[in-house]
Amino acid sequence: MNEATFQPRSLLVTGGAGFIGANFIRHVLDTHAPTRVINLDVLTYAGNLENLAEYRDHPRHVFVKGDIADFALVSRLLDEHAIDGVVHFAAESHVDRSIVGPAIFVQTNVAGTLSLLHAAKEYCARRTTRSDGFRFLQVGTDEVYGSLGATGFFTERTPLDPHSPYSSSKAAADHLVSAYFHTFGLPTLITRCSNNYGPYQFPEKMIPLMINNARHDKPLPVYGDGLNVRDWLYVIDHCTALWGVLTRGQIGNVYNIGGNNEKTNLEVVRSILKAIGKPESLITYVKDRPGHDRRYAIDAKRIMSELGWKPSVTFEQGLARTIEWYMAQQAWLDRVTSGAYKNYYSSMYENR
Ligand code: NAD
Ligand code: DAU
Repeated sequence: MNEATFQPRSLLVTGGAGFIGANFIRHVLDTHAPTRVINLDVLTYAGNLENLAEYRDHPRHVFVKGDIADFALVSRLLDEHAIDGVVHFAAESHVDRSIVGPAIFVQTNVAGTLSLLHAAKEYCARRTTRSDGFRFLQVGTDEVYGSLGATGFFTERTPLDPHSPYSSSKAAADHLVSAYFHTFGLPTLITRCSNNYGPYQFPEKMIPLMINNARHDKPLPVYGDGLNVRDWLYVIDHCTALWGVLTRGQIGNVYNIGGNNEKTNLEVVRSILKAIGKPESLITYVKDRPGHDRRYAIDAKRIMSELGWKPSVTFEQGLARTIEWYMAQQAWLDRVTSGAYKNYYSSMYENR
């Protein structure tokens, strides 16, 4: 890997109580001292501070419960903590929920991102240090590119063609980030990543949902014919890619991130059942998701050649680690599925 060109002292991480955000904060606190992390999360159903339980009193971690759309709060945090990088994870992230209720996706992913960008732009204008010592990293998704047939890959030049309210809102957010780069000179970076899996993922997403159902001998609901293809990336490999882009990426660029692990949903579900020792008779075909994208596949040559990044685990290794983690953390899973996790913030953070 190349020498780092940008070493953030103080990062504002949005959505850090969610799945990827929490893994990223753990990664930064464990491996990138002296970077401090200000974790801004409003704690929707997907935000769970138990994901960071061991880091509650970490000297380089500050948690702030709040909304990315709260311009005054974000501006205050940027100033007070002399933030030199924003890593923007906060979003409504689940496609099925966007089909049932799209409005919150536009509010959070579009209006929230716009407010955050504007606060960052105003902050850069009043900073005394040079603005090239600042980065705004938008954590985006490959879903903005739409759906592939049996062949081909998404490159950074593939036109955006989102199909769900979720991916449309993320595409709009990416366009706004690009607009703030071109119009206002905000030093931005955009990543577009394929499907993540690993520890702390909310069990509405396919892999943890299937693991949870399998351990309870409940049916595993496979949408349609089960032959939709996703390119799976272990979440820690996503985190190392994000750090590489943040510290060494070329300002204004988009970087695709993928695991080169294309699997049909049926292949994934069968692997989970085999690993847990449950029968394939648990597989249940259910009505397909409306507008269900058939195949995603990432061409990640740019990040590999420019930044020297590559995934550290194969899908088989990552899935084995993930299943092992969920089976060892059944109490975490039980608190999430029962809703008990929602009391964690009030019991552990309020009145400290
Ligand atoms: P998640 O749903 O697990 O977490 C989202 C977090 O954002 C939660 O902690 C939630 O409380 C917080 N949040 C929501 N609205 C907020 C607001 N208004 N203000 C502050 N915080 C708010 O999501 P995830 O799977 O960790 O995804 C993180 C990011 O990565 C998202 O932007 C998503 O689009 C992107 N992404 C996810 C994947 C994936 O496979 N999960 C792949 C590519 C990109
Ligand atoms: O590609 C990146 C995206 O991956 C991220 O941007 C999203 O935030 C993330 O949610 C994920 O989107 P998907 O829609 O691909 O993930 P999900 O886990 O919901 O579904 C994965 C595949 O499994 C998809 O083809 C739908 C299918 N599926 C999903 C569920 C929840 C099922 O067959 N049954 C299910 O119960």
